[in-house]
Amino acid sequence: MVEWTDAERTAITTLWSNIDVGEIGPQALTRLLVVFPWTQRYFGTFGDLSTPAAIAGNPKVAAHGKVVMGGLETAVKNMDNIKNAYAKLSVMHSEKLHVDPDNFRLLAECISVVVAAKFGPSVFTAGFQEAWQKFLAVVVSALGRQYH
Ligand code: HEM
Repeated sequence: MVEWTDAERTAITTLWSNIDVGEIGPQALTRLLVVFPWTQRYFGTFGDLSTPAAIAGNPKVAAHGKVVMGGLETAVKNMDNIKNAYAKLSVMHSEKLHVDPDNFRLLAECISVVVAAKFGPSVFTAGFQEAWQKFLAVVVSALGRQYH
């Protein structure tokens, strides 16, 4: 079981309350599809993903980015039981969507880059970055749990 300090809990909840999932989510998914283009294979129904500008302007990418980022609320609200909270979502990504679990780590990286760019170092401080990346690592691990 993951242990959280009070400072980490405060960092995660404070940051989360300042995150607009409709802004950060689309940017993070756009970044995933641009920086790690092989992830485009899971989004064959999303239309034009041929250039960074096309990806950034694609309404399906924006909508799904918001859904994925909104999915992090489950972890924020279940910090002491993230593994169980994501059991069903993990099964779905594994058995139905066949998403390679290494991609969870890549998306987490993109989310952190976008969050850091949005808030800057005076808000997204060293302590916040450390807590946030620990939080995302727990999410990534939980989403990979049901793979076998
Ligand atoms: C669907 C969350 C990472 C591919 C979803 C849904 C959620 C979600 C909440 C909708 C589930 C539903 O409709 O019931 C997450 C979270 C992630 C993550 C929290 C990591 C932080 C990824 C990654 C990929 C991916 C890395 C692929 C590279 C998909 C696909 C769908 C989906 C293809 C279905 C899209 C559709 O056709 O509607 N995800 N996801 N996910 N996810 Fe993820």
